[in-house]
Amino acid sequence: MIYSFKDFYQNKVKFSFETAPFSKFPKHVFVICQYRRKWLLTEHHSRGLEFPGGKVEKGETPEQAAHREVMEETGATIKQLHYVGQYFVDAKGDSVIKNVYFALVDELKMQDHYFETKGPVLIDELPKNLREHERFSFMMKDDVLTLSMDYIKKHFNVSN
Ligand code: GTP
Repeated sequence: MIYSFKDFYQNKVKFSFETAPFSKFPKHVFVICQYRRKWLLTEHHSRGLEFPGGKVEKGETPEQAAHREVMEETGATIKQLHYVGQYFVDAKGDSVIKNVYFALVDELKMQDHYFETKGPVLIDELPKNLREHERFSFMMKDDVLTLSMDYIKKHFNVSN
């Protein structure tokens, strides 16, 4: 099943929980992280609060990119990484395909420097109406997040 909706910028998005519905080689990853029953986000300099993620580098698998990006942006090591789904964004000429993962964080090590972000931010509970919160990145403001969070709450032992 493929879900179709618009993102915060009115770009068309397709999302599915299937394995590789849009590409076997997605070039981006988005990692929903949990650490000690809190959500672990990163604060991007311009976009604001979001779950860590980014581009898959040459020679990397998307899973390796997930581990690396989470470390670079938050200082966290992952003990369990679960595939959630994949989405396709048609961004007016550009298109992006991302794998979504759920990660259980093992350790959070404070760093002197974080790549592209101001580092980790732990949150007990995500606000219900994220679209209205300026502090949050546009990436947190479409059904990718609501569908993924519902799935994670259903399949893993997470509370809030
Ligand atoms: P660089 O190539 O790293 O400079 O960044 P970029 O912003 O040009 O490129 P990217 O390929 O990451 O994204 C292109 C466009 O796709 C962005 O401007 C967004 O509109 C859109 N996009 C990227 N990631 C997401 C996402 O997670 N969700 C949504 N809805 N749109 C996204």
